[in-house]
Amino acid sequence: MGSVIGYIGDKQAQPILLNCLAKLEYRGCDSCGIAVLGGSIELYKDAVRVKELAKVAPQLGGTMGIGHTRLATHGEPSQVNAHPHLDCHGTIAVVHNGIINNFRELKRQLISEGHNFVSETDTEVIPHLIEKYYRGNLEEAVEAAVRDVEGSYAIVVLRAGEPRLVAARKDSPLIIGIGDRENFIASDVPAILDYTDRVIYLEDGDVGVVTPDSIKIRRDGIEVDREEHKILWSVEEAQKAGYEHFMLKEIHEQPKVIRDTLGEYTQVTEPVVDLAVMRDRGLESMLMLACGTSYHAALIGKYIVEELLRTPVRVEIASEFSYYGQPLAGTAAIVITQSGETADALKAIKRLKGVECRVVAITNVVGSTASRIADQTIYTRAGPEISVAATKSFTAQLMVLYWLAMSYSKADARRLASLLMGLRQLPSKVQQVLDSEDIILECAKYLSRYEDVFFIGRGISFPVALEGALKLKETSYIHAEGYAAGELKHGPFALLGGDTPVIAIVARDNTYEAMLTDIKEVKARGSPVMALAEEGDEAIGELADLVITVPRVDAMFSPVVNVVALQLLAYYTAKQRGCPIDSPRNLAKSVTVE
Ligand code: F6R
Repeated sequence: MGSVIGYIGDKQAQPILLNCLAKLEYRGCDSCGIAVLGGSIELYKDAVRVKELAKVAPQLGGTMGIGHTRLATHGEPSQVNAHPHLDCHGTIAVVHNGIINNFRELKRQLISEGHNFVSETDTEVIPHLIEKYYRGNLEEAVEAAVRDVEGSYAIVVLRAGEPRLVAARKDSPLIIGIGDRENFIASDVPAILDYTDRVIYLEDGDVGVVTPDSIKIRRDGIEVDREEHKILWSVEEAQKAGYEHFMLKEIHEQPKVIRDTLGEYTQVTEPVVDLAVMRDRGLESMLMLACGTSYHAALIGKYIVEELLRTPVRVEIASEFSYYGQPLAGTAAIVITQSGETADALKAIKRLKGVECRVVAITNVVGSTASRIADQTIYTRAGPEISVAATKSFTAQLMVLYWLAMSYSKADARRLASLLMGLRQLPSKVQQVLDSEDIILECAKYLSRYEDVFFIGRGISFPVALEGALKLKETSYIHAEGYAAGELKHGPFALLGGDTPVIAIVARDNTYEAMLTDIKEVKARGSPVMALAEEGDEAIGELADLVITVPRVDAMFSPVVNVVALQLLAYYTAKQRGCPIDSPRNLAKSVTVE
């Protein structure tokens, strides 16, 4: 797993490749490498991050080349396992993102035919397959090679003596960036935004043949047209804009993200077609599928939809559903995925399509695989999310869910009008949370001393507790668990004590009194309590050791203000502990393998 890049043009390839790779590190990187074609292929790779590689790499002269950041799947992070990989004669170099499921059989076969392998990776079979099939035409050899491959791939191929790059994709994202007397190939748009805003999205099964001034896309050997898209994100938008980390920048973008996402949809008078069809059929139930933070958005969606539509919602972890889930007839399926490339979410969509369920994808990435294989896509307008920890994309997902539920709501007109007003006020409410950063920073300093933390909530605040725990553990490496507050006494009480703080998320809804009791029980067992509570809540002020105050909102919107506060808490705790906030260890932004 990782990212690929390719450059061909009239400039020296090495600095461009390294610059593009640095922009792709957010997708996960434990090793990286480049290959440049001068007279022959020259290659440099190691188990280091891009910055270190750039410092030590020798000058590789040439105006075309390929590069890779790797997050290990087959074989440990090491120099020999890093990409690019070569054929037997060092004349074909390949970078690959994805997983080749049948690489063991292919490798066995190739070895029996005399090919020598040096790495433990699945990728290495590709240059050898291309070598095997090469008869003087590189694209034909690539097409033949990928026909043998089962699994997912985005590859870029460089061959000595060939003035072009060849790229191919299946179930792994790949774009071509169009420049002036130069062209680019990349796993994702931010990689190339320094050079161009014109891109072509390759589709599964496409093979791209790229020279400095031409781009040809083939499918099954026949040339096809692919639309050119203009990227509206500025380079600056994909950068940190003065913030120390992308995560902090992205947290602060949330008032705008709420406005942008709601602005997109509240002006739409037509309802979402598929859901309208399903509503006319009676909309008996709804299924939501997602992973990680998107799963937590789906869990909150359940509370929203069940209250406003009075329709039962089943929420499933996509990786579980792909194996065991039984979609029911009459079910509307919504798959939520920021990247639109999460392998588990895509597999779930394929399972749903297999039983002819209609699928609506909620995704942030235009042109992503989810958007192409779902029947309909609703885009969140969060802009590029670079930090591995999802923040603004989560809020944008909630906005879509609020809007959907309110569009089809069975609530009375007064309740709806009040909710609509609450929704419009959310950007300023979130801004209020962002303005209370100082208090959250103090709480983070306190929290950073501990190694185990519980987050508790009831009702709509239970998924908030799950999300708070996920954010804290992935950024600060503190062991954190999210629990339904009522469940603590069924086992986790055994872990409470002075070394284990409990963070209580307290919404002003019908769970309020029970939460007060939960806090008292936790305190009686010696755990320090930090509470997230509405402004003016004196009872909590008296009970908890530390309080983060959030603005008053309708309880249905409380996850938005509470999660933003918990994102800041996780960020500042991680910063206090000196963690690499934007790219935590062992994690990738886009989990493109199962
Ligand atoms: C956590 C996080 C992950 C993602 C998960 C799903 O901060 O970012 O848990 O939410 O990998 O990713 P998407 O939404 O792209 O399918």
